[in-house]
This record gives sequence, C-alpha cells and structure tokens, in this order.
Amino acid sequence: MNYKKTIPVLMAVSFICVMCSCVSNRIENAEVRMSEFIDSLMREMTVEEKLGQLNLVTGGDMVTGHVMEVELENLIRRQEIGGVFNVKGADKILALQKVAVEETKHGIPLLVGADIIHGYETVFPIPLALSCSFDTVAIERMARISAIEASASGINWTYSPMVDICRDPRWGRIAEGNGEDPYLGSILAPAYVRGYQGKNMSGKNEIMSCVKHFALYGASEAGRDYNVVDMSRQRMFNEYFLPYKAAIQAGAGSVMTSFNLIDGIPAAANKWLMTDVLRKLWGFDGLLVTDYDVISEMSKLGYAPLKEASVKALEAGTDMDMVSAGYFTTLAQSLKNGDVTENMIDNACRNVLKAKYRLGLFKDPYKYCDTTDVKHKVFTPEHRSAARKIATETFVLLKNKKELLPLSTNGKIALIGPMADAANNMCGMWSMTCSPSKHISLYDAMRDAVGEKAQILYSKGCNIYRDEDMENLANGIRPIARGDDQRLIADALRAASGADVIVAALGESAEMSGESASRADLDLPDVQKELLKALVATGKPVVLLLFTGRPLTLTWEDANVDAILNVWFGGSEAANAICDVLFGKESPSGKLTVTFPRSVGQIPLYYNHVNTSRPDSDPAAFNRYQSNYIDERNEPLYPFGYGLNYTTFAYGDLQLDTDTLTRDGKITASVKITNTGKRKGTEIVQLYSRDTFASLARPVKELKGFHRITLKPGESKVVTFEITSAMLGFYNNELEYVCEPGEFEIMVGPDSEKLSVKKFFYEEAFE
Ligand code: BGC
Repeated sequence: MNYKKTIPVLMAVSFICVMCSCVSNRIENAEVRMSEFIDSLMREMTVEEKLGQLNLVTGGDMVTGHVMEVELENLIRRQEIGGVFNVKGADKILALQKVAVEETKHGIPLLVGADIIHGYETVFPIPLALSCSFDTVAIERMARISAIEASASGINWTYSPMVDICRDPRWGRIAEGNGEDPYLGSILAPAYVRGYQGKNMSGKNEIMSCVKHFALYGASEAGRDYNVVDMSRQRMFNEYFLPYKAAIQAGAGSVMTSFNLIDGIPAAANKWLMTDVLRKLWGFDGLLVTDYDVISEMSKLGYAPLKEASVKALEAGTDMDMVSAGYFTTLAQSLKNGDVTENMIDNACRNVLKAKYRLGLFKDPYKYCDTTDVKHKVFTPEHRSAARKIATETFVLLKNKKELLPLSTNGKIALIGPMADAANNMCGMWSMTCSPSKHISLYDAMRDAVGEKAQILYSKGCNIYRDEDMENLANGIRPIARGDDQRLIADALRAASGADVIVAALGESAEMSGESASRADLDLPDVQKELLKALVATGKPVVLLLFTGRPLTLTWEDANVDAILNVWFGGSEAANAICDVLFGKESPSGKLTVTFPRSVGQIPLYYNHVNTSRPDSDPAAFNRYQSNYIDERNEPLYPFGYGLNYTTFAYGDLQLDTDTLTRDGKITASVKITNTGKRKGTEIVQLYSRDTFASLARPVKELKGFHRITLKPGESKVVTFEITSAMLGFYNNELEYVCEPGEFEIMVGPDSEKLSVKKFFYEEAFE
C-alpha cells in the first residue's frame, strides 16, 4: 500500500472532526485515526521492511563514535532505514526524503534528527548557562527559535533536551544539562519541550524533542564519559528521575536511552526502566531510541553480543537502534528462532511510524524541506537579538571588588587572552550547524561598544595550553592560531602597562566540554594561569572574563583577581552580549545552577546533600572524627544559587502566615525584597525546604521554588511562595510518594547558603 492514497479520506474525517467541540474527543479521534492509518500501513509491510524502520543511521556530518560505511540513498531505496541524523543542509535532506517518498514501495518518509541543543545557526548559550537564567520563558523562546531554524533546514527531530542531573564538573557533558538540581531541572525541561514541539509538533516549524539520556547518565562515576552508574532506586525517584518525568509529562515525543548500566543492566536493555517506569508508570507512548551504537556496545559492557543484545533491547521496549544495526541485521533470525515475537517488532515499528505521523510527515513529507525557507528563517536579526538578550541573562558575576564592573567606556582597556579574538570559540559544544565566519570576536565587539571614547589594547597573551598536542586535543575542529608563549606574555604585559584596567579573556576552549571532554584537573589551563598571575602582579585592576563549559576551581582567582564574570559559552551573539554586561547596558543576573568547588578533591559537591552522622562543626578548622578533610574545607567556593548583580538587594524578614500545615492546606511564605543599589537589576529569589526527621534521611535543603523579579533603585516588592504538602513529600523505599508528619524548615534567600529560616509543622500523613 502507498499511504498517500488514504490521505484524502483521512482529511475528510478530520474536517468533520473540527466541528466537534469536545477537545478530548478530538484528541481521542485523532489517536484512533492514527492507529487505523498505521495498522493498515503495517499490514502491507514485510518483517524486513518493519525492521528497516527501526534502523537509524548517521549522515556523518557530525559523529561521536564508530561509523558504518553507508551509502544513504541506497539504504533508503532498499527500505533499510527509518531515519537519518546529523546531515546538514536542506538540499541534501530534501534529496534523501525524495528517495524515501518517491522511490520506495510504501513511500514512508524519514525521521531526520540532529543535536540542536542550543540553537541552529543562531546559537544561544550552552544549556548549563541557560539554566543559570532560571528563566523558563527565555528557554522556551530559545527552543522555539531553534525549531524554526532547524525545521527550515530539513530537520524534524532534535536530540534535546538533555536533562541529566550532574554533580561532577569533571564530566564534560555537564555543559549540556541544567546543572545539579532536580527541581530546577524539572521546571526547565518542559520549557525546552514546549519550545521545540510548539502546539503539537505537527506544525510546519514544530519538531520532535528527544529527552536524554534516560537514565542517570549524569552520574557517571569519576566524571568519565560512558562510565558506570550505580544508584539506589529511592535516589533515582527522588532526584535523578524528576526532569525526565517532567519532560515526558510535557509531551516529549521521544526519549533517548543512556549508555550506562542501571542496576547492572544496560539502560536500553532494562525492561524495568523502559517498560515499567517509562511506559507504564509515566504513561510515555512515544518513540524510544538508543544512544549512539549502544546495542553493539553492550558486548564490551560484558552484557551480551549484538544478536542477544538486540533481543534484550527489543524486549525491554526500545524501539529504534541508533547506528549499531543490531535490530536490522539480527532480529529477523531471532524471530525465526522464536527469541522475539512479531508482535514485539510491530510495537517498535508502530512507535516509529507514530512519531512520523505526529510530525505530519505522512500528510506532507516535504514540509521541512522548503529550501527557500532557509534564507528567511535562519540567523535573522530577530533571532540574533533574542540570542544576545538571553545570553546576558546567563552570565554569572562571581566577584566584583569595589564595584570594578561595569567598566566605563573611557580611557584605555587592555583586552588580553586567547579568547579575546576567537570568534570561532564562542558557541561551545554541539554547534556544528553554526557559521563561525559570521560571528564577531570580543575584540571587535568591544571596539564597537566603546567607539572613539576608549582605546582597546589587544594582546593574545598566551596559548590555551602550553603544550601544542594538549591544545589540539582541547580545540580540534575550531583551532585558534598559536604563538610563542613567552613572547605572547611579554607582549601582553607591554599592552597592560599602558592600560587603566585589564580584561583577561581566559578559560576553556569550546571543545574542552561536551561529549568526550572529561577533565581531571579543573584549574585554568597552565599557561593561562601563569598569564593571569603576571597580569595581577602589575597591580592594575583585573577583570577575569571566564569562558567555560563547567565549574572550574577558581580558588586562587577568587582570592587575587578583582572581578570575575563567568560568561560560559554564550553562542553566536556572545561577544556583543558580553559587552552589554561589561559596560553596564545590562546588569548580570545569572545564578549558579551548579556548585563551584574549591578543589577537585571535593567532588562530588552539591548543596542538596544528605547530612552525615558527624557534620563538620567548624568549617575554618580541621575537626578530627568529623566528616571533613585534613587539607581542604568542606564548603564550596561558590554555592548553588550564587551570583552577584551590579545593584544590591536587601531581604526583609521571612514570614509564614501560619506555622501548621494540613494535608490539603497551604502556607504562604513572604519576604520583602528591596533594590538598595543605584541600578535596575533582576534578582532570583529562592525558596528551599528541609524535612527535619523522616523515615528516609532527607537532604539538608532542597530548592522548591524561585521568582525572578526586576526592581528599580529603591523599589521594593513582596515575594510570596505557597507551600503545600505535595511539594514536601518524597519517595520511600517502596517507591511510594509520601509526606510524613513532623517538623519542616522553610528557607528563603539569594542563594543556597544565605538563607533566612522558619520552622513549621506538618500534621497529617500523606500517601
Ligand atoms: C550522544 C547523544 C547524541 C548522539 C547523536 C551520542 O554520542 O551521547 O547525546 O544525541 O550521539 O549525535
């Protein structure tokens, strides 16, 4: 059957349906129509053709592992693949889609995936930076713009959001997620989904999101990629699962499995995880795809060779096989042997076809391939100005001694460092779709920003690493030209000597974070730290503009540098956005969503930990037989939620309207915030709670809410939070959600440490 013949009938049915006023009926009818359509299509398909739909191959424009030698067009013609990913260019994608639709028996269109995780050609800050804005509206807008640009370029499926909670900055992929907090993660994940999928992911510029990496990938031991994870189930449910679940409840069309083990079983083959939790408990009915080559790599994990691994993954409920070709090459034989049933293959194939149907591909297979769209919809002035504004919200001001920042646009400013004139380094990881030649460097942006009023004295200062091989590793695809370090430092000091203030643009290069970019040392790279020390030794005021995809250990910098502005990787418009903040057009308002440790030895270090039986009683000293270090303090350098502003905010007394909470009741917490400085500013007011005693030990504090408020100088606002019993519960070891009676604490403040505390009692058991 060619499905195109059935479309007019379906359209007639949908017209009748528009008349129907009941929304839920309409949705049910749409589901019925989809099932009928897919059933009739599948009745005509052979087992081999169904297995072809389960096969996902890379187009090779960006690869993260082993690559099969493929000739895409022939694979499509032979109906051996259901989708392709990381192919760049609307023309190229249109040509492939045409083969699928016009040169195959059933004419089934392709899923076309890509890792569009923080923008397409208009690139936004990396997700970790975006999370520091605590701004769901900005994140939804970022995802919407990404979807508009990606869909205009042929892509219908993005492998985002990445919602893995991570508390280990050694892991390079911490850059791709929302940081360490489950609650914040569960608020931000749906914003991504809404932005990408729009109304229902069937509109012309709506694409399917893919929540990844299910599950627990961010807990890779030792911060090493693809490493082991082992975790109690209560911890999974109370902490790590929250963002995945929230994204699924927001209607994410697909989920990607992780590389790691869960309870000793590879995630993609874990039936408890994929069927019992994901599908049955959370009601996910979309497409479940593996991560890259996961099925084939199960053999190296010591779990099963390709054929058996394919059986296990299918049994677990995994629908689509990314790259390993295990499903396509082995399941027909496994069916003959009776190791899998045709029903299992049908279920997986149905989920792939459902995704295509929901995207509207059967109605209009070329809807994402209008090649004239690219010019009008990609990298537009409107998108770029949104990216610039959003970037300013993500920068975190870590230190600002004597209000050195913002800088005045007068005098002489020395701009020094390998990131200062590196336009190709502003986007960070997963930015293969951007065009660095269209970006401007910080040096150019600074000259534009100050015009004739100030002089910018630029000097590169040093390489990223002293060692060339190390630098090549750190900065493979977009290298920054190298020079001789000694000469560079001497030049820099000469430039600095004539300046009123020094701006040092230092940190990681774009590829030092992201996939396969774990680090064991989190200091500024060797020669850059030397340069910074030399600049500080001049005695001139120094601003460290820090480029990074992860928390770094900045203990020396915090003690010795006057101002530190963490700008992460701010995207294609980063240079102008940095100048907006540096010169005070905008005030920084980002707050850290991940703890900055003092030293690598403290990792994992996160604010919402459970107490030990011997908590440290005096952070300033070593306390024998208490939980602390001989050679390091316990507390972080910068805690979760921390970030300064160009203005200051005073917090009034925290007030609760009652000190007793009933099961169906609520407590209102309120606090008056006043802008006590001289500039307008945005504050992120944070609410935390603690369950003092419970049948499972609970964290010392957990974020439960936040408000972003903007205040003019002298202006005040009373911020209120409503606290209900449903917010305070937890999963016990039976994995039941309970809220136990007893004492609780409510805390409000500007970060996870500077908090006012009030106690209250919760009266009734909640199950
Ligand atoms: C990554 C995924 C990504 C996939 C496809 C893998 O190596 O882990 O996050 O979506 O490649 O590019």
